[in-house]
Amino acid sequence: MSNYKICVLPGDGIGVDVVDAAIKVLDTVGFSNQVEYLYGDIGWEFWKTEGNPLPDRTIDLLKESNCALFGAITSKPKEEADAELDPRFKNKGLIYFSPIVKLRQLFDLYINLRPCKAYLGNPLNYRDDIDLVVFRENTEGLYSGVEWHPVPEAVMKAFIENHPRAKRFGDFALEDLAISTRIFTRKGVKRILKASMEYANEFGYKTVTVVEKPNVIRETSGLMVREARTLIKNYPSLELWETNIDAMAMWLIKNPQDYGLLVTSNMFGDIISDEAAQLVGGLGFARSGNIGDNMAVFEPTHGSAPKYVGQNKVNPIATILAAKMMLDWLNEKEMAQQVEQAVAEVIKEGNARTYDMGGNTSTTGMADAICSRIEKS
Ligand code: IPM
Ligand code: MG
Repeated sequence: MSNYKICVLPGDGIGVDVVDAAIKVLDTVGFSNQVEYLYGDIGWEFWKTEGNPLPDRTIDLLKESNCALFGAITSKPKEEADAELDPRFKNKGLIYFSPIVKLRQLFDLYINLRPCKAYLGNPLNYRDDIDLVVFRENTEGLYSGVEWHPVPEAVMKAFIENHPRAKRFGDFALEDLAISTRIFTRKGVKRILKASMEYANEFGYKTVTVVEKPNVIRETSGLMVREARTLIKNYPSLELWETNIDAMAMWLIKNPQDYGLLVTSNMFGDIISDEAAQLVGGLGFARSGNIGDNMAVFEPTHGSAPKYVGQNKVNPIATILAAKMMLDWLNEKEMAQQVEQAVAEVIKEGNARTYDMGGNTSTTGMADAICSRIEKS
């Protein structure tokens, strides 16, 4: 009997290769014996052929799963999305949306957990003593999707009537205005802060740095920082640091080793987590967990890398480490530990190196190297 149902969403391009590699590792560590894998459709292919990159049948599969392992998807700007749509669906008002952003909101996966740790021996490390974790709010902020172009008259009128600084935009034609809102809720802010502080406490991080910009974005960033100051009082062993996003981008280059856990809103987290990932090997190593109270989706941070399709070339470590995060979330701590140790050892030995690490090990070659470490342990 299987203990878990895991929804597997390889997606587009090299998503398929890296998910295969991760499943191979999960087989080797003994996880797959107790699991039913439910493969689901997601991504650009389904946009082109069905006009929906996240079909309802996939949402149903996710609903019956404990959690999901996701590969990568291709996404393109509006005009290209329209051009590639099957003629049957053209001119029906369908709009391409990012399925991963939709999944985060649909399943209320409010935590985006992005560990960025330097594994010894990785030739791509900026320094070897970096151990950062980014907690990114995952459901609101600039990703709320509340935006307009052209701006409806009623919206513009409401802005002007309610905000003195909106007046100077009142002279523009509505089609010459675009508005994207940055919406924060107290609930959303508090739960990401709390989750980050709990995590810092559990895993021995001494500092929690709230990364915002309250000197300019007074209301949203301000709300986040004010709530952080209140919540930190519940964690006497943690120190709260407050850093503006621009300064954080600089400090991460200057002395990343001084930081532990960073917590921030959706867009800032998107940006700063790419920077943090680059310090420890870049996209081939960057993984992320989209985590809610009862559901989670684990993924490599990278995209579908169309130029490497069919070449068995890309680094699968990000996805293998995403699978490790999934094991942790399912409380399969021992297996999680085995996977991470095998990855760390393979990196340290330096015999298997994918192209990004300066070697010529293939995707499957790297997965095999990790699997044989697990078998030896
Ligand atoms: C990420 C990605 C996504 C995001 C894209 C693919 C929509 O950049 O997970 O960081 O912006 O959140
Ligand atoms: Mg990103």
